[in-house]
Amino acid sequence: MAVISPDIFSAAEFLKKGDLVGIPTETVYGLAGNALDGSAVAKIFEVKNRPSFDPLIMHISGIDQVENYASNFPEKLKKLAEEFWPGPLTLLLPKKEIVPDIVTSGLSRVALRVPAHPLTHSLLGLLDFPLAAPSANPFGYISPTRASHVSEQLGEKIPLILDGGPCTVGLESTIVGMEDGEVVIYRMGGLSIDAVEEVVGKVTVRTQSSSRPDAPGLLLSHYAPRVPFLVGNLYELIAEASKSKKDFAVLSLSRQFEEIDASRKYILSKDENLNEAAQNLFAAMRQLDSSGAEVILAEYMPEVGLGRAMNDRLRRAAAKG
Ligand code: TXA
Ligand code: MG
Repeated sequence: MAVISPDIFSAAEFLKKGDLVGIPTETVYGLAGNALDGSAVAKIFEVKNRPSFDPLIMHISGIDQVENYASNFPEKLKKLAEEFWPGPLTLLLPKKEIVPDIVTSGLSRVALRVPAHPLTHSLLGLLDFPLAAPSANPFGYISPTRASHVSEQLGEKIPLILDGGPCTVGLESTIVGMEDGEVVIYRMGGLSIDAVEEVVGKVTVRTQSSSRPDAPGLLLSHYAPRVPFLVGNLYELIAEASKSKKDFAVLSLSRQFEEIDASRKYILSKDENLNEAAQNLFAAMRQLDSSGAEVILAEYMPEVGLGRAMNDRLRRAAAKG
């Protein structure tokens, strides 16, 4: 069973040996291994039960590392990196030979990110290699935002989870690249589209769902709880569930639903603060998934700021066939 500890030195020792470690980031916890060691990376796919066509993000210690792994750094993406790194931004850049094909699933671009969590930042400083790290959940399930989430699902398969407390952003990074000189957003995430557009102007958002997308974070069904998950007008959903005598749980932004038992509801932010709501979203989905309810009923967030990325996750969670 994994040790849960904030000890970056023992994390560094495991990683240097080719072992995997759960690491905290400001977005979600990652399942990290030496990105330049093909067999450590292969272990990541195995432990996560992740299909090999789904490439991994490489975590680096700073913008100065980009030139080691990318053959070109377009001006607009550099501006984004200067503005938002360390932070919830991942950039797709043309890869250099040194990046193993298993990291990029054979694609010509590599995904790079400088995470903002102080522990992981210090850890990267102790290493002379970058860390490949997907979210530390079994493929298709909800991403972990607490060390305990990682331990519950992957604890038996890794030696150590670096405990950095609850993630402060709570949604995966926003993935950005370029096509024909245009900035494209491939995954909405912890950095809002508005924030990106303030730096580089209007962007294209290409996050359609399909069964074989460019970025499998875009799989139609992803981030999904085990029990059925419905999103829509909560009053209607509650009325229907009550009529069919379903034991339901409710995920709401701010409404209290006094008549519903505390074990069967989660309020994301009393003040309708969307940053706070994003921080709580995945923990809420996990808690309700384990509450014993037969179905989870949720509502969409306002389509502003992080609300857009949250709605993307809610939609995908509901898409489970
Ligand atoms: O916030 C995050 O991004 C977290 C933390 C741990 O950094 N990581 C994360 O990784 O969410 P993961 O593997 O769960 O999602 C990464 C997404 C996947 O949808 C993958 O397809 C896409 O990034 N991706 C990675 N490399 C890519 C590449 N070379 N081209 C296109 N998409 C890529
Ligand atoms: Mg993931």
